Amino acid sequence: MDHFAFTDGVLHAEQVPLPAIAEAVGTPVYVYSRATLTRHARVFRDALTSALDKPHIAFAVKSNPNLAVLKLLAKEGYGADVVSGGEMERALAAGIPAEGIVFSGVGKTTAELVRGLEAGIGQFNLESEEEGIELAALATARGLTAPAVLRVNPDVDAGTHGKISTGKAENKFGVPYDRAAAMFGRLAVLPGLNLRGLAVHIGSQLSKLDPMEAAFARLGDLMHTIRAAGHEVSHMDLGGGVGVPYKADDVFPSPEDYATMVARVTGNWGVTLMFEPGRIISGNSGVLLTQVVRVKPGVTSPFVIVDAAMNDLARPALYDAWHDFLAVTPSGERTTAHIVGPICESSDTFAMGRDIDTVQAGDLAVFRTAGAYGATMANTYNSRALVPEVMVDGDKWAVVAQRIDPAAILAAERVPDWLE
Ligand code: LLP
Repeated sequence: MDHFAFTDGVLHAEQVPLPAIAEAVGTPVYVYSRATLTRHARVFRDALTSALDKPHIAFAVKSNPNLAVLKLLAKEGYGADVVSGGEMERALAAGIPAEGIVFSGVGKTTAELVRGLEAGIGQFNLESEEEGIELAALATARGLTAPAVLRVNPDVDAGTHGKISTGKAENKFGVPYDRAAAMFGRLAVLPGLNLRGLAVHIGSQLSKLDPMEAAFARLGDLMHTIRAAGHEVSHMDLGGGVGVPYKADDVFPSPEDYATMVARVTGNWGVTLMFEPGRIISGNSGVLLTQVVRVKPGVTSPFVIVDAAMNDLARPALYDAWHDFLAVTPSGERTTAHIVGPICESSDTFAMGRDIDTVQAGDLAVFRTAGAYGATMANTYNSRALVPEVMVDGDKWAVVAQRIDPAAILAAERVPDWLE
């Protein structure tokens, strides 16, 4: 459920008509709904807290790292799952307490590990024995102890797009399942490391609970093996990955279904469970507002050329992802069309042969479900602007990330004097 709906034939974000934002800020622009974000944050948190004992929920910052979004989630009691020093600084800047921060990522640099230690973050999710050895040494040298868990690759097929699957043996994530218990034993005895459990994350946009359940069950078996070897296990991190519907008739597990499954699998674990949801919180809380530049006849269907492009919303080009396309003031007529951006490559295609509202040059439209992995993956390819972001709250709205114009990017470039 979201707060983007039609009032008097015009698409609104909460009570704000989208044409008002387009007129003031220009297009393309991401528009987030505060009420939707808050609702999703609460529904997910309430589902987990009623089924489980004091779970720790860390929002996956990568899905939407906007400072205002993080601030809102900090107020809802969320921690942060970060994968870079940059994300860590954002989470801290948004007021997320350091102890609520989980540091994931397969390639944390020495500088990032040190910054995490000095900031006192809550947990390092180790992706290799080498990383654990380095972290232990860095912590010891500073008289600190790093709380950590070992991420395991359970070799489970998540059943999602190959580029966002992370839990198969051939993926770079986690340590091989069969070697994890022995590795845990070696790392657990290192001074400077408080190795307190395991982590798993098998992929994103998961439409079924079964692969997650299989992965969690495997993780539980490993936990029992580790305990039997005399190690204490107090924290188990179950990652993120619950998908959201991008099409009206898509059926996805609800937060309650997910929580019930987790409670069933982990009932006797006796640990603090940790979660790293991203898309399920932020996905439906944003749209990408765009204007039709022109409509050009094609051989099979017309091309609707919009002013948003693959640099603003990369998901269709990268993962063949579907984002619903809606006219902001629909006429009631429908057409079959290709929806494309202005970038000079054919991958700049949002949809082919799609049944859409009939639109004309100058009309406004949105790509829905763009709040997760939208603005955060934007770039300036073709020397386009970096897309701005707006947050709506009832009848008011604010720019929460300014457009960065090509001129500002040009101004940061230099021609060496030996080229003059
Ligand atoms: N935890 C870890 C360790 C992750 O790698 C991810 C996502 C998450 C949590 C959050 O997953 P979520 O709940 O959002 O599914 N750019 C892609 C998605 C990449 C996901 C990367 N990892 C897309 O646009 O679909």
